Formats: sequence, structure tokens, C-alpha cells
Amino acid sequence: MTNKSIIKLGVFGFGCVGGGLYEVLHKTGGIKAHIEKICVKNRDKKRSLPEEFFTYDKNDLLFNDNIDVIVELIDDSEAAFEIVSTALKNGKAVVTANKKMIAEHFEELLQLQQEYNVPLLYEGACCASIPIIRNLEEYYDNDLLTAVEGIFNGSTNYILTKIFDENLDFDTALKQAQEAGFAESDPRLDVDGFDPKYKLDIILTHAFGATVNPIDIFNYGITRLSPFDIQYAREKGYRIKLVAQCRKAGDKIVATVFPKFITPSDKLYTINNEYNGIVIESIFAETQFFSGKGAGAYPTASAVLSDISALTYNYKYEYKKLLQNPAARISNDFLAEVFVRFSDGSGLKPTDFETVKEFYSSGNNNFIIGEINYQTLVTSNWIKSNEVSVIFTASPLKVTDPVEELAALVEA
Ligand code: HSE
Repeated sequence: MTNKSIIKLGVFGFGCVGGGLYEVLHKTGGIKAHIEKICVKNRDKKRSLPEEFFTYDKNDLLFNDNIDVIVELIDDSEAAFEIVSTALKNGKAVVTANKKMIAEHFEELLQLQQEYNVPLLYEGACCASIPIIRNLEEYYDNDLLTAVEGIFNGSTNYILTKIFDENLDFDTALKQAQEAGFAESDPRLDVDGFDPKYKLDIILTHAFGATVNPIDIFNYGITRLSPFDIQYAREKGYRIKLVAQCRKAGDKIVATVFPKFITPSDKLYTINNEYNGIVIESIFAETQFFSGKGAGAYPTASAVLSDISALTYNYKYEYKKLLQNPAARISNDFLAEVFVRFSDGSGLKPTDFETVKEFYSSGNNNFIIGEINYQTLVTSNWIKSNEVSVIFTASPLKVTDPVEELAALVEA
């Protein structure tokens, strides 16, 4: 690609991010890229560009020899996979921001990149403007990372900020997040924690070399948080954030998506509205922190633009950690300290917990704070109840390396 003076782009989608890309591309002088054609679905929608920019036939882009790079920015993940896989098979480099598509089809996409020797870049898929994937790929290019934790979803952070700071109700705050272009077309992906799970799934690959089917990661969103929970957090001086995290101990990896109480000393405490924040822990560097806008047209388009720019110098992901950590496996066998609010009829029993720190009972708003085996938590019947909410406490997850544990047992 370096021998061409200008990269010619075929763009799929002209929604929030597609429109944003058009603008940032035209406002950024240094990038030698030009949008050749934009493929859209709806013929009747009024658009900000003249008709000749658009086509309704995907093959006008996918089989167009004049186009070097396909930029995929639609929200239907299965249609996106069809587009991306066809493009890669045709030898076209691809830039996408579709986290669901990448997480659900990772193995196939990896194989296509290898077989056809074409790059697929997706920085815009994880935390929008924060360059987390390239940092994990290039800077943290070793096996000394121990944890990645953060706010990976702008919409839920926006909603929770509005609830905490402005006493807005959930529906009004969600509507604002939708109007601002932060939320997915199906906002359940945001509020039920699927979107941050897909991002966590991608980060697991680039942080720890683990390829995990997203079905194997449990996600718990923010829809069950009640005024009682918010009041409890306020009284303690906490905020509640939807936190995705992964930790590694030996070959054991854990990955969770749950609301969490955030104390004022936590780096995520001041990350509000549509901002995302990511804390990285590694053995020698200890803790590092990234923050930036995690949703919205321009922040996402800026990451997409950065990927387009990276293609001009033939950048591709090397997935080195997949080779470094072939035995890395996801596990639900660890202890999480949680706050669980429950009603008398919810079926929760204190004996489900390994330890109980606090127990409060008042009929409809009982709560328990204690340590519970994560597998027990996510397979319990009560976790599905609308009369229950689960919030992780500020205590870190207790993840131990089974090999070290065994060695300690033998020594004892
Ligand atoms: N719906 C996503 C969010 C968009 O709110 O974070 C950015 O991925």
C-alpha cells in the first residue's frame, strides 16, 4: 500500500460513525485517503452528501479494483461479517468498528487474515478514542500483564452519571444517550452489558492471547440497579460504574462484566458521561491508566481514521500473545466480593456465600455483602430475578494460579 499515493476507501454505512469519518477525514490534512464510494441500505433516507457518493449494491465496493480498503461501519453484525470476510478474500484490507462481529467471529477472521495475507484493523471497536488495542499489541508486547479493568461502554457510563449527578431517571438518561449517538441501535446491547463484553473479549486476545467465545463470558448490566442501590452508594460516598475486567494468574484467566462500587480513590471515579477509562496492571510497570471518549461519532471516527492511516505504513496486528500463551484458559473458579440486594422471595441463601461480611434485612430490600464463588454466582437462579441486583465491591477479585496453589499445598 505504501507505493500508492492515495488510499481509496469503500465505506459501508453512513450513520453516526460513517458520517463522522467523512468529516474527520476531510478535516485531517495529513491522511492520504479518499472515499471512493459509500454503500448504504436505505434509499429513502435524506443524507448530507449528494446522491453520487452512494451505492446500494455492496458489490460496487467489494469487487471494485479501484478500492484498496473497505471500511465497515454498519451495525448488523452478521451482514458486517459477510462484507468483511468477502473483502479479505478479495485481498482488500479492512477497517471495522464492529465489536460484536469481531468477538463472535474472531477465529474465522484470524484465519482469513492469515490465509489471504491482508490486514484487518479495529481500534474503533474498543473504547472508541482510546488506542488500547495498539498499545496492548505493541507496547505491552510481553506476558507480564496481570489485569485490564475499565469502563468500556460510554452509554451506560453516561446514564449512571446522569442518575448520580442529576437525579435523572433511567429512561430519560438512556434517551439522551441515544440522541447523542452513543447507544447501539439496540440499546439492550449497552444496558445489559453485551457491548462491553464484546470489547472485553477482544481485549482478552490482545492482552493475554486468549480467544474466548463471548457466550462463555457472563454479562450483567445496569437495568436491575434500584433507587435503594443508588442511595446505598451515595451514602457510602461511592459511584456505581459498569466495569469490565480481566485478570490472569498463571494460565488461568477470569473475565467479568458487572456494575461495581467505585470509591473516590479509584482512577475510574472521575470518569463520567460517555468517557471510558482503562486501568492496566503489569508486574513491573504496576498501574497505568488511559481515558478518553468511549462513544460518539468523532471519537470513534478518529480511531477508524488512525487505522486507515496505519494501513499507509502496512501496519497489521501480529497477535504475538496468541503464540506466547497457548494454554491460557478462561475460568469461573475464583472468589468475588459482591453486594447483593434481594427480596425475601428471591431464593438467595446466605449459605451460597463463602464468607458474609454484612447482612441487612428489611423485607423487600435485604442485602448481603460477602465473597462468593463466581461460578456459583453466575449459575444461581436468583441472579436472573428482577428483584435482585448484584454489584461488585471495590475489593479485587481473588484469582489464584492453580499451579502455585498446588505447589504451596505440596510444600505444606
Ligand atoms: N454503544 C457504544 C457505547 C458505542 O456506548 O460505548 C461505542 O462502542
